[in-house]
This record gives sequence, structure tokens and C-alpha cells, in this order.
Amino acid sequence: MKKIRVVVADSNHDYLKSFVSFTRTSHNDSRFVFTYFSDQQILQEYIDHGHAIDLLLISPDLHESVMNLADDVLIVLLEDDILSDDDRTFPGVYRYQRLSQLLSNLIGLYYEHNEAAERQLVRSKQAKVISVYSPVGGTGKTTVAANLSKQLALNGSKVFYLNLETINSSGLFFSSEEDNPSLQIFYYAKSDFKQLLSKIETLKKHDAYAMVDYFDIEINAEEMLEMRGEEVKRIINGIVKTGEYNYIIVDLDSSLHERNRTALTESDNILWIMTNDNQSILKTKALLDKEEDLFGKKNIIRDRMTTILNKFTGAQIGDMDDLGVTIDGYLPFISAWLVPQTNDGILGNDRFNQEIQTIARNIIVYNKEGVATGGL
Ligand SMILES: Nc1ncnc2c1ncn2[C@@H]1O[C@H](COP(=O)(O)OP(=O)(O)O)[C@@H](O)[C@H]1O
Ligand SMILES: [Mg+2]
Repeated sequence: MKKIRVVVADSNHDYLKSFVSFTRTSHNDSRFVFTYFSDQQILQEYIDHGHAIDLLLISPDLHESVMNLADDVLIVLLEDDILSDDDRTFPGVYRYQRLSQLLSNLIGLYYEHNEAAERQLVRSKQAKVISVYSPVGGTGKTTVAANLSKQLALNGSKVFYLNLETINSSGLFFSSEEDNPSLQIFYYAKSDFKQLLSKIETLKKHDAYAMVDYFDIEINAEEMLEMRGEEVKRIINGIVKTGEYNYIIVDLDSSLHERNRTALTESDNILWIMTNDNQSILKTKALLDKEEDLFGKKNIIRDRMTTILNKFTGAQIGDMDDLGVTIDGYLPFISAWLVPQTNDGILGNDRFNQEIQTIARNIIVYNKEGVATGGL
């Protein structure tokens, strides 16, 4: 779920303090990331530095002096009086209302003014798009994506597993009686074919053991490397639009190819698979440091990221402190997987799946309900 980055700027210290303590103690503010300023100059430095701001809640006196705000920042004035809506250039909220009410008003204003956010909200009510990614190969992305798909299906959800790896390995996990490979789907995604939706219906396959739908695409690295972001977007949105699924699990590889970046941009949640080693930590840090350049300010990865430590043996965790992320879930090292497995060996490990279920419950279902109920 994308968080709304709110900057609260008010020269009234006491008010700001009560705001801070309300948002710290409230359990309901998970949709917002707040930053506070009482000093005009420090606020200006923050703006000039180019930090991402979705919504600026600001007292009129401070607002008079701010400069260089990006065009897409929604400005909401923190008003001392209840004003009429006439002749206002900016929307306002009355400061002396209950803070929970004030935050509801802010969300309303934000969605009114931000069509993209609204689309994301509408869409997340239908199907959640969850990408599985890491900047390092072999951390277990495919293993997690396939097992998560199956466990969500076991819980009663309708799941589509979408493999976008350069070298597709889903044949190891999923199979179907039907022949007629799904490869044509790439052709239909190339332009805005009206038939894309009906092609998804006819080309998708069903794995009866995992109860998951997927495209059976034979290894075709060339096709994958040529894939444009637009095509990825159409395929994901096409699967969403079928209206059939609760979850679309997108299995990526570690490259920053356009198709992976687009999939990450289009995702409601990103499961970021790490292993307990310096490679994972260094590459994650390097990528997050550059995320605004790679994905744009409106697509902050951190806000939608769920960090999973896979192949965890219980050993002490490496130095994650300066990553600025916390580990949200752990998956055990399964020694049986050191030797090649059949699909039920990979998808049927009880110990692994118990932890996958915990992740599904705590993180994914929680987020979904958070959106469905409006968050406050
Ligand atoms: N929790 C785990 N315990 C032991 N081996 C694992 C675990 N997760 C993944 N593996 C193994 O690591 C290798 C790479 O996994 P894979 O899911 O293909 O990674 P990726 O998709 O990130 O490249 C495979 O041999 C897989 O069996
Ligand atoms: Mg993989």
C-alpha cells in the first residue's frame, strides 16, 4: 500500500506537539508518513532538497513564505476558523477538530486531488498485486512466490502467479494437462488489443495441485529481454481487470530491466527477499539509495516493501542498521532443498509453509483489510 507522505508545518509549537503525540500513539496512522516543521527556514531547506511530499498541511502564515514547491504537492491549509469554501485557492481543514477526523478529511482531500492514488485504491479493492523481488539472484524469490501463491490459494483466495523471469523456471513448480502454450500473451500485450482480456482467459493455465492460475511460457529469454514496460503494465492490469483474482503474485528476477521496474511500480506490495549476507545488504542499500532516480518520487519502494529474510538458520543477523529497513518476516533454511526436488517437495514443505502463512496473515491480509476499510 502506498503511504501518503504528509509534511505538517505550523509555527504553533503546542499544536504541533499534540499532533506528533497523536500520530505516534494512534494505531491507525499506518497510511501516512509524517514529517513536522515549525521553522520556516528548515521547511524551505527540506523543500529545496527535493524530498518527496504528497501533501503539505500548513498554517497560512507559513504558507505565505514557502517557495519552489513541486506542482504535484497537494497543499492543505490548517485553518484557525471554519471558512466557507468560496474564494479559496487551496483546500483547508479546521485545526481544532478531533485529530482522527482531521486525518480522515486529509485522506478524502488527497484522493479527490490525486487520480492515480484513487485508481490505486479502487484497484486494490479488486486484486492485490504483490511482486517478489531482490537485487540479488538465488535468494529464493521464485521459491517464495510459488509457495506464497499456493498458500494464499489454500486460504481460499483466487491467485494468479505471473512469472517475469528472464529464464522462466515456473515449469519446476506448476504444470497443467492442457497444451497450447501461453506465449501468445506477449503478442497481445504489444499494443492495446481489445482482445487482451479474452486472451488472458483462454491462454491461462490452472495447476490443480497448487490451485493457482498461471501462464505456461516456455523458456524464452529473448522475448523477456525485449519486453517493454508498457507491455508489463497491460498484462498486469489485464489480469486485474478480469476481476477474477484476489492476488496476483509477480515473480521477478534481480535485474533492473524495464519490465522488472515497471512490475515494481505497478505493485501494491513488494516482498523483498534477502539472505543473511553482505551481498544482500549492500545491494539492497545501494538500490534504495538510488530509488528516486530509478523509480521516480511517486513510486517510493520503501513504502510498499515487506522485507523477508530467507534461508534463515537462526544465526545472528548481519548489520542491517544503516539500511533503514527492518526485517518484517523470516523464512527457515530448508536443508532438504539442497538436493533437487519435485514440485511437491518444493511446494509441500510444512515448516516453510507455516512461516509463509504467518507472512500472509500478518502482512498481506492486514494490508488488504487496511485498504478495504479506508484505513482510519
Ligand atoms: N528457505 C530455503 N532453504 C533452502 N534452500 C532454499 C530456500 N529458498 C530457496 N532455496 C534454494 O535456493 C535456490 C534459489 O532459489 P530460487 O527461488 O530459484 O531463487 P531466485 O528466484 O531468487 O533466483 C534454489 O536451489 C532453492 O531451492
Ligand atoms: Mg527466480
